[in-house]
Amino acid sequence: MSMNDDPAGKTGLNDPRVAYFDHHAPAWDQTGPDPATTLRRLRELDGLLGFRPGLDVLEIGCGTGQITGWLAESVKPGKVVAMDFSPGMLAQAKARGVPADFLLKDICREETVARRFDVVLCFHSFPHFRDPAAALRQIARYLKPGGHLLVMHLAGSAPLNAFHQKLGGAVGRDHLPPAAQWPELVCAASLSVVESVDREDLFLVRAVNIDLPR
Ligand SMILES: C[S@@+](CC[C@H](N)C(=O)[O-])C[C@H]1O[C@@H](n2cnc3c(N)ncnc32)[C@H](O)[C@@H]1O
Repeated sequence: MSMNDDPAGKTGLNDPRVAYFDHHAPAWDQTGPDPATTLRRLRELDGLLGFRPGLDVLEIGCGTGQITGWLAESVKPGKVVAMDFSPGMLAQAKARGVPADFLLKDICREETVARRFDVVLCFHSFPHFRDPAAALRQIARYLKPGGHLLVMHLAGSAPLNAFHQKLGGAVGRDHLPPAAQWPELVCAASLSVVESVDREDLFLVRAVNIDLPR
């Protein structure tokens, strides 16, 4: 398919972020957030996050898989599937050899799903989804009834949005809605917010899937 065969952008091939993240993939672990600091903070937040043995987790926007191994360790014998739409990012993640399955997929592309999860995690990824409403509908399809969506950043929405604005380029207008807006944002996807934090050093929204299986 050529880039122009998809004017509506349904396949994600026209999304300039694919090229952006492909370009940054090889050096991501050296130039992005420090992976050791990220893992230390996640371990500190363990109680709040609630990952426990036996949960099946879908990690959307896994990037180079910085946290995928930690996630797999936290939920085993539950399974982790790590998804990203950047082939470059996903190649780096696969090369880590962590016990997870990897999926090259665009979360904004709505389609039926083969498998459902207890938890869908969007760690440092949600603002980059070009069509948040479509992404939320697709996320709901991936969730078991009663399953949880967890959207998380190790910074609040205000500093994060200022950071992306300063970066400019393909991600310059990527926006994380403040936590107060999420109850309305997710309800069209039959999700309901049960917990939220939006402070300088942490953003976390947890929403439960209140829909019947589709
Ligand atoms: C800022 S990076 C974060 C990567 C990783 N979670 C981390 O913390 O290092 C955001 C990731 O989301 C992915 N992404 C953005 N839009 C996506 C979409 N529509 N579907 C799937 N992945 C997407 C990008 O390719 C990128 O790898």
